[in-house]
Amino acid sequence: MKLLKFLGAALFVPATSAAQLEPVSDYGGTATQVGMNVYIPDTVTDYPALVVVVHSCGSSAEQYFSNSAVPWAKGSDGKGYITIWPSSPNSGGCWDVSSTQSLTRDGGGDSTAIANMITYALATYGADPERVYVTGGSSGAMMSNVLAATYPDLIKAVSLYSGVPAGCFVSSSGAVAAWNNTCSGGQSIATPEQWANVVLDMYPGYDGPRPKMQIWHGSADRTLYPQNYEEKIKQWTAVFGVDQTPTNVQENTPEQSYTTSDYGENVQGIYAEGTGHSVLPHLEESEAWFGLV
Ligand SMILES: *[C@@H]1O[C@H](CO)[C@@H](O)[C@H](O)[C@H]1NC(C)=O
Repeated sequence: MKLLKFLGAALFVPATSAAQLEPVSDYGGTATQVGMNVYIPDTVTDYPALVVVVHSCGSSAEQYFSNSAVPWAKGSDGKGYITIWPSSPNSGGCWDVSSTQSLTRDGGGDSTAIANMITYALATYGADPERVYVTGGSSGAMMSNVLAATYPDLIKAVSLYSGVPAGCFVSSSGAVAAWNNTCSGGQSIATPEQWANVVLDMYPGYDGPRPKMQIWHGSADRTLYPQNYEEKIKQWTAVFGVDQTPTNVQENTPEQSYTTSDYGENVQGIYAEGTGHSVLPHLEESEAWFGLV
């Protein structure tokens, strides 16, 4: 600012935004050491929406934020919503989607930590509790499913890229952030009712509203095999009590080789033929799913 005055503000209009990703040290009451970061754009709307952006394995909030393929800071600048960027405390940077703690409502795992960030952000930044959204890729997509199952009352909609069903990565020994080859290889196959029960059991007794689920996956995924797409569709259609046959199918939407299938109003699958792991975030379609206009 001093430099600007010195040079004369009229001559020097900064082209870039001043807003930055900021760490938040004490968002409260967490058992795990999940890092919280917030991005508040220069121009925030009144009563802003909140989007939680959950990174993939081997990444961090900072790396994901500065990844040019991850468009959420741009979306935040464009539409004036706040983004929250959690950072995994686990070795390898994956999210804990395997332990009982994280797969249980208020179990004290990574999912509870992220829910605490949402609660903190609503109180601290005056965000709109009716407009809280979650997105993520790969391990972040797995966590998005787990958050939808454990904190359905906090989240209005989810858009997840290349994950697995909620509970699919469960560890039989209860290990934290364990890899699960059966699930990643697409061999965890269950009925829609069984998958729905996995979700219901994460927050027993809850029968309020649940987030709308938009599920992206690539047909050539060899990290989280594409069978996981079918299993996720089974899971969330059964949770919403709708049929596994789509109510509407659009070929080559939102782009060539992508097929968008609606299962009523609350579940949408977007299958990318020929795309591997992981499908790149599509800002416009995710924002539209969230109703961010
Ligand atoms: C992997 O996940 C499946 C469910 O998807 C579970 O039945 C199995 O026990 C898990 N494997 C290990 C080694 O924990």
